[in-house]
Amino acid sequence: MRLTLAFILSIIIAVGLVAFGFTFFQSTAERNKLISELEIRTDKIAGEVLKNDVLYSGQINQNDIEHITDSISKRYNLLGMAIYYNNDSILCNKYTRNLISSSVNYISQAITADTSLGNFFTIAGGDIYQYIRPVNGTDISSKAYVFYADAGYIDKVISNIWFRNFVRWFIQAFLVSLVTLLIIRWGIFSQINRIVAWVKALRTGSTSQINLKPHFKYLDPLHKEIETIAKAMHEAKATAEEEARLRTSAEAIWTPERLKVEVEKLLQKKKMIVVSNREPYIHIHEGKDIKCIVPASGMITAMEPILKACSGLWIASGTGDADKETVNKNGKVEVPPEEPKYTLKRLWLTREEEDHFYYGFSNEGMWPLCHIAHTRPTFRNEDWLYYQKVNKDFAKAVLDETKDEEQPFILIQDFHFALLPELIKKEKPRAKIAIFWHIPWPNPESFGICPWQREILQGMLGADLIGFHTQYHCNHFLETVNYVLESRVLWENFSVKMGGRTTFVKPFPISIAFTLKDYDNNSPKINPSQLLNKYGITSQFMGIGIDRIDYTKGLIEKFLAIERFLEKNPEYVGKFTFVQIGAPSRTQLKSYSDMVSAVENEANRINLRFKSKNWKAILLIKRHHSHEEIAPFYSSANFCMVSSLHDGMNLVAKEFVASRNQNDGALILSRFAGAFQELQGAIIINPYDIEKSADAIKQALEMSAEEQNNRMKQMRLVIVQHNIYSWAATLLRTMAGIN
Ligand code: G6P
Repeated sequence: MRLTLAFILSIIIAVGLVAFGFTFFQSTAERNKLISELEIRTDKIAGEVLKNDVLYSGQINQNDIEHITDSISKRYNLLGMAIYYNNDSILCNKYTRNLISSSVNYISQAITADTSLGNFFTIAGGDIYQYIRPVNGTDISSKAYVFYADAGYIDKVISNIWFRNFVRWFIQAFLVSLVTLLIIRWGIFSQINRIVAWVKALRTGSTSQINLKPHFKYLDPLHKEIETIAKAMHEAKATAEEEARLRTSAEAIWTPERLKVEVEKLLQKKKMIVVSNREPYIHIHEGKDIKCIVPASGMITAMEPILKACSGLWIASGTGDADKETVNKNGKVEVPPEEPKYTLKRLWLTREEEDHFYYGFSNEGMWPLCHIAHTRPTFRNEDWLYYQKVNKDFAKAVLDETKDEEQPFILIQDFHFALLPELIKKEKPRAKIAIFWHIPWPNPESFGICPWQREILQGMLGADLIGFHTQYHCNHFLETVNYVLESRVLWENFSVKMGGRTTFVKPFPISIAFTLKDYDNNSPKINPSQLLNKYGITSQFMGIGIDRIDYTKGLIEKFLAIERFLEKNPEYVGKFTFVQIGAPSRTQLKSYSDMVSAVENEANRINLRFKSKNWKAILLIKRHHSHEEIAPFYSSANFCMVSSLHDGMNLVAKEFVASRNQNDGALILSRFAGAFQELQGAIIINPYDIEKSADAIKQALEMSAEEQNNRMKQMRLVIVQHNIYSWAATLLRTMAGIN
């Protein structure tokens, strides 16, 4: 209220000052104009009166002067005139006598100066204008004609101007104050009140108030900023709450904030560089627009939250058709696009490099070599040459980026870059290098079929630390090294000594970004039938599978298990649908495109077998889905089925469990996926055993709410305690601890 008053008063004063100044100048100009008009008019009248012959007859007397005075006051609206000879001889009437006696001084002055003079004076409260015109006559020494005019109207005109301008100022001040008041009330105060209510809603989490956003466009930037602050505040609050809750327990849950602090401490301003083949963001053309997508990759799911929390540089191959348009001249782009947190540097592979390095050696050689899924690896000499070349190119990029740094932290990802650790170590011996193998490591006999097994192992042993998901994979790796290389494997601390260097080989079960805040998230769950209706399917129960279409994922085995389940449990026909989201992957390779067809054919065959109106046994959605698109499927399904024939970890299993904030639903998990070791609350299957897998589906659908709750709670706890932030902290601490 005070502020409004001060605001309005200031406006009134400002408008008043302008009005006053303006009126002052207007009235002064008007007064001058009126005076000059009066002077001119009197002068003109005097000229006319002085043409009167009586004045020159020499016998002018009192009567004449009264007569002349009467006539000029009637004709010209003058008060009168007088003829002045000297102080003792003045011809005038009674009225002008009064006037002349108060102004004789001026008359003598005019006569002495022999010039016409006009002056104003006041008598009995009235303003009078006196005009003196001296005349040199021969009949009498000297004389002057004096005319009197009423000047009182000038003041009246001026007062009128002041009055009118005052009224105008008053009306203006009133209207301006009123408009200001309205603007302040509705445009500012009421919006501020809305913002206050809304900020409060954001602070307290009151959902009914959250929609009370200010509706003025100009407040949008403020609104956006506040939303970001509120988000950060919520996160900080949630973190503080988490920490408070966990202060009593021995091990605190890792959060992005905690990891950030830890990384700052460990890195001590040294650079952190992540290298992978697959980039975390792919820019693609979509019509006239450029769209940014996150590819389907467990490696990306895991590494992205770390980079977001700790920034750093991620070097990867640029594969999107709009990738080149979105980077700067150094091939760099800040990501995530909506809120940049770290830098992505893209390297460009030629067509041949992509064919031989990526499709050839990495995906037809290394991938089937490490996954025991009964697809034969293919090794070609040309692929190997390109594999070496691309590894060298990436090593050069890393060295360029770290040329000013002696001891950067370099985190290499996966089987595409087995040679990179040694290539970097040779040039930068003090760099801290870790390579994390996101896929399984086979036994030495299986690995032994690789013609370049020595080079691959030597390349990897350039790292200070080699990470696998499980101890089992570590053991396989150490056994392989033992068989192949002249080196010393120290089983007591799981390390390899070779050529004066030591490499530690340790398990780091990778995970997802799941904190207590997500654990407590109580967003409502969608009914499966609601979700299936969109696809024209009416079904009561729903199972979900989310995989890249890859022969290691056991998709055919999964479909066979579904078929067998329906065969054995016909009461579920028409009531249960399995949704398989399959992201096509590496389709340029025959083994993968064949897999896509096989999966489609199998789904069609089973659907045809159990054909029913408005229902399908299997809904195969064959396209890439974003995390946001997947979320409703995760949260509404009765169970999730992971049937990998061999898998490093499988983060889909963890994502599904994490999404079940009501501790319901069931997870069916292959014992050949790394996640099996941690997620003991899952229904564990051997995907090759179709009969048992079919029974597992029945068990999942018919599990009591209590059992679901117990199993889910236990698994969710494991994931929150071993989330991706704890993974990164453990890995980086281990790296930093190696001398
Ligand atoms: C696995 C690998 C990742 C890879 C992902 C997708 O998860 O461990 O390194 O990114 O598959 O495969 P792609 O060939 O599409 O990158």
